Amino acid sequence: MEKIKFVIDGKEVEAIRDQCVLDVARQNGIYIPGLCYNPEVKFSGGSCRLCLVEAHQAGRMSLVTACNYPIREGLEIKTDTSLVKRIRKGIIELLLARVPDSDVIKELAAEAGIDEPRFVKDEGENYHSKCIACGLCIQVCEEVVGVSAIAMLNRGPDKTPGTPYKKPSEVCIGCGACAYACPTDAIPMEDNGDTRKIWGREFKMHLCSVCGKPYIPEAQIDWIVKTTGKDRVFFDKCPDCR
Ligand code: SF4
Ligand code: FES
Repeated sequence: MEKIKFVIDGKEVEAIRDQCVLDVARQNGIYIPGLCYNPEVKFSGGSCRLCLVEAHQAGRMSLVTACNYPIREGLEIKTDTSLVKRIRKGIIELLLARVPDSDVIKELAAEAGIDEPRFVKDEGENYHSKCIACGLCIQVCEEVVGVSAIAMLNRGPDKTPGTPYKKPSEVCIGCGACAYACPTDAIPMEDNGDTRKIWGREFKMHLCSVCGKPYIPEAQIDWIVKTTGKDRVFFDKCPDCR
């Protein structure tokens, strides 16, 4: 891995060639907002546009998304200029108009000094109060879990993740990885006793043989046993009692 130096907010830092700007900024304690990027998920990022920064190279400046911009020699990044702040504020206003009930977006709006967005709230047929249509849930389900139970439905402003034809998915294992990964807490998941509800289906939870706590859906155990060959006995006890 080739190490190179570049400049971010006036400070020279070391990075691995092609590492994305957002990862290195965070490693160096430099705050850049960003919701749709998860370093554990290969194809995440590039959707929410919140991580916009100025990239200066070879005498030219371009506005780029830090979560998918690779670090190269001679690069200088500016994360907090008046231009970046102005554009980021506009993006937050648009997100706030789309998902006025999202606490995460409300916090970003407050930080940016926005009370009411200038744009009209989206209250159409596919209005979703928290989803910013970033697609992270879909990528996690496909890439990390390996199931592909959900996909993006509709187009344009009506884009939203869901199961095929909005029917209960036959392949979903109820693991909830999509809900945990969602940056705006937009996926309803309900655990009640030994039952979990998600994407219109109910899943029976497996109880720990020691403490009796329901801790993993039976369907998820079936999936792990089938795809990895792991011994089912391993799941008798929850992680706390193992
Ligand atoms: S549900 Fe969450 S993770 Fe999925 S697209 Fe919407 S905001 Fe992104
Ligand atoms: S975090 Fe970079 S575009 Fe969303």
